[in-house]
Amino acid sequence: MSKRKRSLSGIKPTGNPHLGNYLGMIGPAIELQEEYDAFYFVADYHALTTVKDPVKMRRLVYEITAYFLAFGLDPERAAFFRQSDIPEVAELTWMLSCVTHMGLLERAHAYKAAKDRGEEKEINHGVFTYPVLMASDILIYDSDVVPVGSDQIQHLEMTRDMAQRFNRAFDGEYLKLPEAKVRKEVATVPGIDGRKMSKSYGNLIEPLAPSKKLRKQVMQIETDSTPLEEPQDPDDCTVVDLYRLVADADEIAEMEDNYRAGGYGYGHAKQDLFEKLDQIFSPRREKYEALREDEAYLEKILAQGADRVRPIVDEVMERVRRAAGLGRII
Ligand code: ADP
Ligand code: TRP
Repeated sequence: MSKRKRSLSGIKPTGNPHLGNYLGMIGPAIELQEEYDAFYFVADYHALTTVKDPVKMRRLVYEITAYFLAFGLDPERAAFFRQSDIPEVAELTWMLSCVTHMGLLERAHAYKAAKDRGEEKEINHGVFTYPVLMASDILIYDSDVVPVGSDQIQHLEMTRDMAQRFNRAFDGEYLKLPEAKVRKEVATVPGIDGRKMSKSYGNLIEPLAPSKKLRKQVMQIETDSTPLEEPQDPDDCTVVDLYRLVADADEIAEMEDNYRAGGYGYGHAKQDLFEKLDQIFSPRREKYEALREDEAYLEKILAQGADRVRPIVDEVMERVRRAAGLGRII
């Protein structure tokens, strides 16, 4: 088997990815397909905590598959698959649950946030146990690195904690400790209101949305009210922060000079940012639209991906079942 390190990540199927998803996770994960054995999956089990509609679930899975392909995932190199095509992740989730303290899960961000909103009794057990399923997702593939945005670091720490507890409980190195791979410059991409870009804040820029919508989102970026003629500080503006993440060095320097010189309003800066985004993403938008139509092809990619990871799952599951004294001896 290949000696390359393994990169693994998952993404919940929640519709059109925003710039934070793309720059923080999707782009970096896809780049790693060059150097790593890359395994990426659609987290449909995780989505089940909120999506209770089978038609919608399938549609969301096809959409995210088409997005990854449009963004450059090469199915010949990277395996892209459905989380639920590997049902053993649910089995390993149970095994990890039995070495995981309630206290650890009570500290998880998503659960704490729900509790702070007073929803403790209404949230389902899947939300509470979300980090255990995520740990299982990672550990079941003997993953080395996990490319994610900075909001997932806590989950990676919990994953390592669970692997260590499992290894200690059964006295052996059964599960490999993975590492988060977070790109510093895009760890937290700002949204149009300057806070972290996130679906839950509705402050999105969706690079694959139709041009008109993309332009509207860019135009809505919040800026201060410095008059057009006055020089402005490029280090204190979300438009520049975003431009720095997508433009090349010369273009960035030009925008910074324009800010300092004055006579260059936020409207101009936003127009430049929009044009840059549209230039980068419009070919991918077209590719997405074509791919999205071909569900048979998307299904084939997902099946092929699941087949690729299957031998590793069998190996790891055999190891952990033996460690715990579960299942028949063959
Ligand atoms: P959201 O916060 O919009 O619900 P998700 O939690 O579905 O996004 O995130 C999917 C992936 O994108 C994760 O790996 C996450 O770390 C990354 N990500 C999400 N928002 C950002 C952001 N603003 N900056 C960088 N990475 C992000
Ligand atoms: N929790 C991740 C998110 O909300 C999605 C996810 C599920 C994941 N399982 C994973 C990410 C395993 C990396 C590895 O974005």
